Amino acid sequence: MIVGSIKEDITLEKRVSITPETAKNIIGLGLKVCVEKNYATHLGIKDDEFKNFGVEIKENSNEIINYSDLLVKVSCPKKNEINGLKQKSILIGMLNPSKNKDDINNIIKKNINVFSLELLPRITRAQSMDVLSSQSNLAGYRAVVDCIFEFEKAVPMMMTAAGTVPAAKVLVIGAGVAGLQAIATAKRLGAVVSATDVRAASKEQVESLGGKFLTVDQEENMETSGGYAKEASEDYKKKQAAMMRDALKKNDIVICTALIPGKTAPRILTEDLVKLMRPGSIIYDLAAEQGGNSAYSDAGKTNIVEGIKIIGVKSLMNRLPLTASSLYAKNLFSFIRNLYSKEKKDFNINLEDEIISKTLIKEI
Ligand code: NAI
Repeated sequence: MIVGSIKEDITLEKRVSITPETAKNIIGLGLKVCVEKNYATHLGIKDDEFKNFGVEIKENSNEIINYSDLLVKVSCPKKNEINGLKQKSILIGMLNPSKNKDDINNIIKKNINVFSLELLPRITRAQSMDVLSSQSNLAGYRAVVDCIFEFEKAVPMMMTAAGTVPAAKVLVIGAGVAGLQAIATAKRLGAVVSATDVRAASKEQVESLGGKFLTVDQEENMETSGGYAKEASEDYKKKQAAMMRDALKKNDIVICTALIPGKTAPRILTEDLVKLMRPGSIIYDLAAEQGGNSAYSDAGKTNIVEGIKIIGVKSLMNRLPLTASSLYAKNLFSFIRNLYSKEKKDFNINLEDEIISKTLIKEI
């Protein structure tokens, strides 16, 4: 059984799906691994590092696409790649099914089992495979680093003979995976951090990281049984906006991470609210690709409104592709280990396994 991977279009996606370390682990399961020539040279990983672990290097991506029993990718294959996929093979990636509906349907029609790892259930057994968590955690860290780079003042409090410089104030909106890492990183760098979330349960997590939780008074339960956020009611939005009015005047940097799975990002910072910030402030919108938590957010652009920088984030993982690849490849290995039966020497698509049934895409 051959597990193959081809190069992504590195102008759009710098991550890779297999690292030398995970190749070794996949081979350890009894599978063969094959990657395209110069697969990860853009990350400083030479072909020889793969070869040393027994990986076969192929000159031509078609050879891999045509013969792999399992093709692993980061993003959805391109149309010309789809044509060459082996019948009855398996494709695994972060395929973004809602965006790539037609391509995925075409792959499924070729009798190929397609797994998209964004669909993993958030259960304990799937934690080692959870690509959204591994990548969002990095996103939260990188968000703070980027903001500090853009911010034209020092972040930690500095007591010098010339006088004291107060610490910068950072507000994090949405205390999920990315938000909690942003809080922890901003604290470590000396900022005064506060955060808010619709889920009351997140208060304790924010406080355990040293952040101040900003509560919106409300009666309704804003959390689903699966632990995700519900869409806020009009009443909640009004109360949240009132709380934000005060918070935005005081904060220097706002990191937006609010998300409701499968929905457009909630618009929390309206134009009026944005303009309450002081010139020189920064809004860093991690949700820009989902429509943005803030007015003036455009994915991949920085807009300046009345001296306030609104940074709309796009493809953030391309700014730390080596770490992101290392974690993504480990997530993938855990998924493959669960899918492969050493006894049968074959992939076992056991639909009674929630991890398999929830990630396997049926025609969309
Ligand atoms: P998550 O689901 O773990 O956290 C989102 C949080 O937002 C939840 O805690 C939820 O309760 C909260 N929330 C929802 N509605 C809210 C509201 N109206 N007010 C306040 N809080 C609200 O999501 P995760 O994994 O932390 O991702 C956060 C964002 O970062 C997403 O938009 C995600 O797509 C984005 N992201 C972007 C990346 C990039 O490369 N551009 C990479 C990774 C994540």
